[in-house]
Amino acid sequence: KRVKYKEEIAEKGGFPHFMLKEIYDIPQALINSFNSLMEKYLSLASMIVYGAKNVYIIGNGTSLHAGFISSYYFSEISLNVNVVSAAEFPYYALKNVTTGSVIIAISQSGETSDVIRSIKMAKQRGAVILGITNSVGSRLALESNVYLPITAGPEMAVPATKTFTSTIVVLKVLSLYTGLHSGKNDRSEISSLKSEIEELAKQLMVRLPEMEKEAEKLAPKLDKESLYISSSGINYPIALEGALKFKEASMTHAEGIQLGELLHGPIVLTNKGYPVILIKPVEAEDLYNKVIRSIKERGDVIVTVAEDGDMKSIKATRDLTPISNVIPLHLLAYKLGVRKGLPIDTPPGLVKAVIV
Ligand code: AGP
Repeated sequence: KRVKYKEEIAEKGGFPHFMLKEIYDIPQALINSFNSLMEKYLSLASMIVYGAKNVYIIGNGTSLHAGFISSYYFSEISLNVNVVSAAEFPYYALKNVTTGSVIIAISQSGETSDVIRSIKMAKQRGAVILGITNSVGSRLALESNVYLPITAGPEMAVPATKTFTSTIVVLKVLSLYTGLHSGKNDRSEISSLKSEIEELAKQLMVRLPEMEKEAEKLAPKLDKESLYISSSGINYPIALEGALKFKEASMTHAEGIQLGELLHGPIVLTNKGYPVILIKPVEAEDLYNKVIRSIKERGDVIVTVAEDGDMKSIKATRDLTPISNVIPLHLLAYKLGVRKGLPIDTPPGLVKAVIV
């Protein structure tokens, strides 16, 4: 028994949970993901996306949230993409899929049934499938016409962390390459992105222990039945992703809401002590300050995620803020789960890949 216990600790690199280990893996995973993308596959994949009649981005859960973030990247190069849950894709989008359609299917496991079912249906209608997966031998990799690897390394905890941040890197690089075809981007932006990722990773390696302590201190404030997480723009999908992590890792009901929408009804539930986590948006600073004032007036608990926030995120360029801002949320959800004594890596009734 003692031997088994030691092995388990060794597997986790000395961390008490895989989730925490995998958060600490993020900086190196970001660099590996960028460096593992091969020019010839990126050129092919981006050409396919650029030449598409229409583009659908599909995935579930965390992978779907990465897809939402990429729609902000693609809109910078004036490419309209439709981001749809792989579970809804057959009912919502399939009618518009024909020869010339491209499906970007994201799945870290590459095995999620909703994704596999949807790409099979789309293939039958003539679509080209571009898979993005962390598992090279997976069904998604095999069923795709082209695939890009996530290269985050094995992820054991059910709450996905490093595969999410690495998927964002892959999608950002894909959007940059796609922009090369239309002349919206030039090659210098690819080397700038590489330096930005390296800088972010370097700072993260230093700051993660401090961030972990900040999260531990703040977790008791969030130990309530329910909470909101809100932001705007490219960080809005991070509110959704943070809420998913609170459900999985800390069994706490959390809802991600657009900053502007908070004032259109949801704020009614907040009342003296209701926790609201606000991720400082890149744009919409006025709105952010207005929401802070409204929430303070109601006497609620605010936890800000920002460079100068309660949970300090690392300074990053706009397109990398989803990475720098999601890590504080990972840590908060994790620390709340620890505080509640939960089986964080294996939340009850959940599995790593939903194959039904
Ligand atoms: C993430 O924390 C969840 N465990 C879950 O939402 C997951 O992202 C979803 O099931 C999709 O998994 P996949 O990326 O392996 O397809």
